[in-house]
Amino acid sequence: MQKKPPRPDRRGPLPGDHPATSSPRRPKPAASAVPRDAPGIKNPYVRFRPLKRPPVQLHSSTLWDYPSQHYGSGSQGSQGYRGATPSHVIWNVVERTTKEGDLVVDPFCGSGTTIDVCRDLKRRCKGFDLVSSRDDIVRADARELSQHVDKETAHLVFFDPPYADNLNYSDDPACMGKLPFAGSAWSQAMGKVLDELWTITRPGGHIAGYVSDILHVEHKKQKQGGRELKSIEKEFQPLGLELSNLARARGFVFVDHVCVVRRGKALDDPRLRARAVDDGFMLRGFSHLLIFQRPATRAPLPARAVTFASKKAPTPPVPAPRSTRKPPRRRR
Ligand SMILES: C[S@@+](CC[C@H](N)C(=O)[O-])C[C@H]1O[C@@H](n2cnc3c(N)ncnc32)[C@H](O)[C@@H]1O
Repeated sequence: MQKKPPRPDRRGPLPGDHPATSSPRRPKPAASAVPRDAPGIKNPYVRFRPLKRPPVQLHSSTLWDYPSQHYGSGSQGSQGYRGATPSHVIWNVVERTTKEGDLVVDPFCGSGTTIDVCRDLKRRCKGFDLVSSRDDIVRADARELSQHVDKETAHLVFFDPPYADNLNYSDDPACMGKLPFAGSAWSQAMGKVLDELWTITRPGGHIAGYVSDILHVEHKKQKQGGRELKSIEKEFQPLGLELSNLARARGFVFVDHVCVVRRGKALDDPRLRARAVDDGFMLRGFSHLLIFQRPATRAPLPARAVTFASKKAPTPPVPAPRSTRKPPRRRR
């Protein structure tokens, strides 16, 4: 007897189902129908139910994870801004280190995420950036912040700077997204920013820096004796450790270190994940949130003898490993 084909599931995919794998018969939603969590817009992946984000709340451990870039039913900062800070991170820092009416400053304000979070939490906020993307962001170089904010007035400075030259944000020659980590250009600029933060932060106030480390992976080919040799060169740039050294050398006291789970297309890309395993490197799965306090008097730790960025010290090239994945089966 012939088996009946399974009946198509008429409920549509369940929340959490991957749309591409949920039903081969269901046409993929058009790019314009990508889920958008705005009032009145239904999520096409979950029929008749709008997309819901979990409520934003204080994280209870030093591992912070939240499934969305934004909280609530709208957005903080801009949806399309490349390099925007996840708003739950700012919400948690502001909620933990300040109270209503306190002054929060963001010297790298980008799309204005900090300003929007502060509005929600009833904190005063001053946002600066080299490129002013909206009226409430004042154009300023973070290395000259004390020209714009009164001395010792900020209760909290939240900053998410460019991660060395990983992303170029503008054509402005002062953009710190043009500064390489190797050779210490980025560290010197961050040192100047931290000096300014010392000047504007109240004694007892906090500064919180959000950064991610960088790993450069380069595939190289070399001819040797008529043969082509492939190798992989890696350069690890520990921006988190460097930032903590720079802050402590200026007298800031380390209060806490939080690991924020990174989410994004790159981390979900199966080809990139397979490459990381095959080529022996790891994708950056977390960002650092480094929280410091400004004591009343300055007692800086001696400048570290070693800055992680002082010289370029790439790891010796290693031969490219052979793929550990099984070769595809031949079809007969
Ligand atoms: C990682 S983004 C900040 C994202 C922001 N927190 C948000 O959520 O939209 C870094 C920002 O630093 C700015 N920037 C780069 N160099 C700067 C400088 N010298 N002074 C002030 N801002 C600068 C860039 O224009 C960019 O907007």
